[in-house]
Amino acid sequence: MIIQKTENSRLSDFDPDNFSFGNTFIDHMVICEYENGKWGDVKLVPYGPIPFTPAMMGVNYGQACFEGMKAYKDKDGQVFLFRPEKNFERINKSAKRLAMPEVTEEMFLDGLKALVDIDRNWIPQGEGMSLYIRPLIFATEEALKARVANKYMFAIVATPAKSYYSEPVSVKISDHYSRAASGGVGSAKAAGNYAASFYPTQLAIEEGYEQIIWTDDSTHEYFEESGTMNVFVRINDTIYTPPTSEKILDGVTRDSFIQLAKKRGIEIKIEPVAVKTVIEAQKNGTLKEVWGVGTAVVTTIFQALGYQGEKLELPKLSDEESFAAILKKDLTDLQNNLSEDPFGWRV
Ligand code: COI
Repeated sequence: MIIQKTENSRLSDFDPDNFSFGNTFIDHMVICEYENGKWGDVKLVPYGPIPFTPAMMGVNYGQACFEGMKAYKDKDGQVFLFRPEKNFERINKSAKRLAMPEVTEEMFLDGLKALVDIDRNWIPQGEGMSLYIRPLIFATEEALKARVANKYMFAIVATPAKSYYSEPVSVKISDHYSRAASGGVGSAKAAGNYAASFYPTQLAIEEGYEQIIWTDDSTHEYFEESGTMNVFVRINDTIYTPPTSEKILDGVTRDSFIQLAKKRGIEIKIEPVAVKTVIEAQKNGTLKEVWGVGTAVVTTIFQALGYQGEKLELPKLSDEESFAAILKKDLTDLQNNLSEDPFGWRV
C-alpha cells in the first residue's frame, strides 16, 4: 500500500459534540484504480477531490455501488470494525450485478484497516458515536458508449457519525412506487437504487410522512424494505421480516438483529409480510411495533403507518417493552465492546 500522509490535518477543527452526519470527512481516503483488466496499487492519501469529467461513465450510466459500515471506539480507545467481511462479500455481489470488477479481500480489508488506523483520532467515542465508512466502486472511463466501462475507481471515505433520524417517524406504505423489481438490482447496493427512491420519498414527505415502506412491484401487497433499511414487524410477541431476495438487500444489521433475537429466545419468522396482515393486526391491537434497521441509524422506530389515505397509529412502547429497543441495545453494546461477542463479530 502506498501511504501519503496529510500535512494539513483538519482534526483540530472537528468538534465531536457538534457536527452533522455525512458532511465532515476524515483526513485520509483510500483509492485504487482499475484499468487494463486489473487493479493497481492501493493508495492511502489525503481526502479530497479527484479529477472528474462529465463524460465519466459512472455518472452517465450509473455503474456505481457502495457499502456502509462503521468503526467504533471503546472507552479504552480500542477501535473495532463490525463484521467487515460481510461488506466485502456484498460489495462484490453488487459489483458483479453491475458488471463491474470485483475487489480483492486484501484491497478491501487492508485498505479499511489502514484508513481507520491512520485516522483513529477522528472516531468519536460515546453512546451512538462511530465512524461511518463508505467503500465504493464507480466507473471512471471517459466514454459515452452505453457499454461496460473499462476503467474504475475503488475508494473508501469516512465521516464521523452519531445516531440520526432516531426519533419515531411516520411512514407511508407504498401502493404505487417500488424500490426494486423482479430481475432488477434491488439486492445490490447500487447507487441508482437510492436515486430512484428519492422522488417517491419526496412525495411521501409532502403528504406528511418521513419515509416509505416499499412494497413489491407486482402487487404492492407485501413489505420489502423501509426507507434505506430492512423492515421488521412485531405482532404479539413474534417478529416478522421478509426473506432476502433479488429485490431485498441482505442487510448486515438485519442479519445481526435476527441472530440477536434468536439468542434471546424471541420468536422470529423470516417470511413474506403481507400489508393486509399488518393492517389487520393494527386494527385488532396485536401490532406492537414496526421498525427499520440499517448500518447508518441502526434502528428507526415507526409511530404511524400511512396506508391508502389512512394514518394508523402504533403503540408507544417503553425501552423495556420494545423488542426494537432491546435488540438495538444488544447490538450497539456488542459493537462498542460493552458486552461479550459470542458471534465473533468484532474485528
Ligand atoms: C444504512 O442504513 O446503512 C444505509 O444504507 C443508509 C445510507 C445510504 C446512509
